Amino acid sequence: MAPIFASLLFFSFFCGIIAEEENIIQISPSVNPVQKPAGHQISLVCSVKNEIRNEKPGMIWKKHGGLDVTGNVEVKKLDDYTLGLIIRNSSVEDSGVYYCHAQVGSKVYMNKMDVIVFEDIVFRDKQLQFGQILATASVNISCEVSTKKDNVITYWTRHGKQLLEGGKHKFYKGGAILEIQNYQPEQDAGQYTCEVFHVSSGSSNTKTVTLGTVGEKNYVACQQMCNSFCTDIHHKMFSN
Ligand SMILES: *[C@@H]1O[C@H](CO)[C@@H](O)[C@H](O)[C@H]1NC(C)=O
Ligand SMILES: *[C@@H]1O[C@H](CO)[C@@H](O)[C@H](O)[C@H]1NC(C)=O
Repeated sequence: MAPIFASLLFFSFFCGIIAEEENIIQISPSVNPVQKPAGHQISLVCSVKNEIRNEKPGMIWKKHGGLDVTGNVEVKKLDDYTLGLIIRNSSVEDSGVYYCHAQVGSKVYMNKMDVIVFEDIVFRDKQLQFGQILATASVNISCEVSTKKDNVITYWTRHGKQLLEGGKHKFYKGGAILEIQNYQPEQDAGQYTCEVFHVSSGSSNTKTVTLGTVGEKNYVACQQMCNSFCTDIHHKMFSN
């Protein structure tokens, strides 16, 4: 029993010290985590509380794997008790836990801040309506985004079903552009939806583009409803 009790005592003593240390060092902003879209500037300010200001602390910022692997991070001593950290033109790779350490004598105080930089997915082509398209023409729908295209996956749907390459549908630029060949208004009008996933940051964005006139679009939607209705009936009648 005695060793367990001793280690429990040691554990609570140890944790007590950590909690106290976190109070001595403050990091601004007070919200944790800090979340910003890529490209924005992020500033963290680490300051030592009055309690230990009788002596000038040695202060540093740290991060697992190195503070500045991206070349975006700059550390600035604002005064003897305040150390700033600036991430200019932040990228997803700047995400992580930033630790501020302050040493006074042999005592090291610590606090930390989580930084999340996410990719802001912006569609390059803003056109959402195409209006009338001539029969047999080919038409491109673009879901290209502002981020590097090798980092994204584009998922196309039409009437709730995934749209795959084949037949009259052809993909370009890693699936970011859908080409509809030999356009037939009575089949191909209507809504096309793409969902773009930026895998490493967990961001995604969705765009819906409408092809054809309102009449054509309604005709295709109506036909689609009839088709699924008939398929349903067919299943019920012939499946047993
Ligand atoms: C910001 O970083 C991106 C790539 O990460 C680069 O293309 C762009 O030129 C940078 N902008 C500035 C203002 O440094
Ligand atoms: C669609 O985009 C691809 C790639 O940019 C291009 O090669 C093709 O000619 C375009 N098709 C049409 C109909 O504009």
